Amino acid sequence: MVTGGTDSGRGQWSSKMGFILAAAGSAIGLGNIWRFPYVTGQNGGAAFLVLYLACVAVLGVPVMIAELTIGRFSRRNPVGAFKMIRPGSPWKLIGYAGVATGICILSYYSVLAGYTTGYIVKTLIGNTTAYEAFTSNVWIVLPLFLVFIVFTVLVVQGGIKNGIERWAKILMPILLLLLVALIIRSVTLEGAGRGLSFYLKPDFSKVTGKTILAALGQAFFSLSLGMGAMLTYGSYLAKKDNIVTSGLYVAFFDTLIAVMAGLLIFPALFAMGMQPDQGTGLVFKVLPMIFASIPGGHLIGAAFFLLLSIAALTSTISLLEVATAYMVDEKHWLRKRAVWVMALICFALGLPSILSQGIVPWLEKLPLVGMSFLGLMDYIFGNVMLAIGALMISIFFGWLWKVKNAAAELREGCPGFGRIAPVLDIMLKFVCPALILVVLVFLFIDVA
Ligand code: PHE
Repeated sequence: MVTGGTDSGRGQWSSKMGFILAAAGSAIGLGNIWRFPYVTGQNGGAAFLVLYLACVAVLGVPVMIAELTIGRFSRRNPVGAFKMIRPGSPWKLIGYAGVATGICILSYYSVLAGYTTGYIVKTLIGNTTAYEAFTSNVWIVLPLFLVFIVFTVLVVQGGIKNGIERWAKILMPILLLLLVALIIRSVTLEGAGRGLSFYLKPDFSKVTGKTILAALGQAFFSLSLGMGAMLTYGSYLAKKDNIVTSGLYVAFFDTLIAVMAGLLIFPALFAMGMQPDQGTGLVFKVLPMIFASIPGGHLIGAAFFLLLSIAALTSTISLLEVATAYMVDEKHWLRKRAVWVMALICFALGLPSILSQGIVPWLEKLPLVGMSFLGLMDYIFGNVMLAIGALMISIFFGWLWKVKNAAAELREGCPGFGRIAPVLDIMLKFVCPALILVVLVFLFIDVA
């Protein structure tokens, strides 16, 4: 039997609350506030919301618990964790794939996060340049991208307690307060009611296979699952903490913020008589116009983009942490060196993404695939790789490591685990692999 890893030389969260805030910070990001509303808008509103909530509960929560358990048991990064539980087996490839996926997601995610930061100032000073004109100005977007990566590096360099946790403690409550204030403004706008019914009154007649696929994909991306981010955060979790309730809290907060983002955006959208299916530019194109049309809107708008930047930062931190933990644990690099080298790779990988938004025409519409370089990166790494990762993690947990072997780890901090063990077993053995496989098959049919 494999025994768990030791804590020697590794950081640890100082409290369960510190962990929950940090992990919720990873989950909550552009995925909730930028991606969720535009995907919901494209998929008919309320019915999509219901499907998304179901996916989080059925698929997200079990995979989240699996990742946290593997992480805390092994006290390792994703590569080290699989190496330890199944020495000499190819399962460590899931870990390598996770490290690479994290870096690749970080590369384009930071481009979008840079836009978000730029929009704080743009909205504050009342600059009305169109979204396309903004993204195609390389002298503006490139420094913003760089600044965002450097910011991420500085936080991650600080390590677990001093860096990630301290920031998350300050940032997350601010985020929640800002959202509440903005929602109050949005739902009191004239004509907001139609937006509320679009978002909250489901019409299932419009649900198609594509809607279900979109809901599944959104659940993974939003919960930071499938590439080892939650596994890595779990590796800093104390033995006395309850993995099951921690996982549930994180999933709850993440979903709450996504639902709140919808409450913010749809009432305002409809109040302005605009269409909900605008696509990826939704937040960047429509909100500034909405903010510009209400008194004091530039301040509300700046606050919104500040909120979005904060959310993005706590996510980029977790993306960089996966690769950093790998270099520190496995290659024995100093944390500082690991962080800067990884950031440099990210910067290089992000360049084509930034150039693909109206600067270099062939990158904007890649030959053969027909989408932008950034779009392709998001499709491959933010979609397919996360789904493959989550599939592998549930198979690994359900069939190889097995819930009964993980039970001792899960029972630490959660004495009542025995009662839910059979449910987790069924979910990770059958339900999750089957559902994710269906998603992947559809994704490939879609490509073919
Ligand atoms: N969950 C983050 C968001 O919603 C993105 C993310 C994905 C972070 C995967 C880490 C790992 O923005």
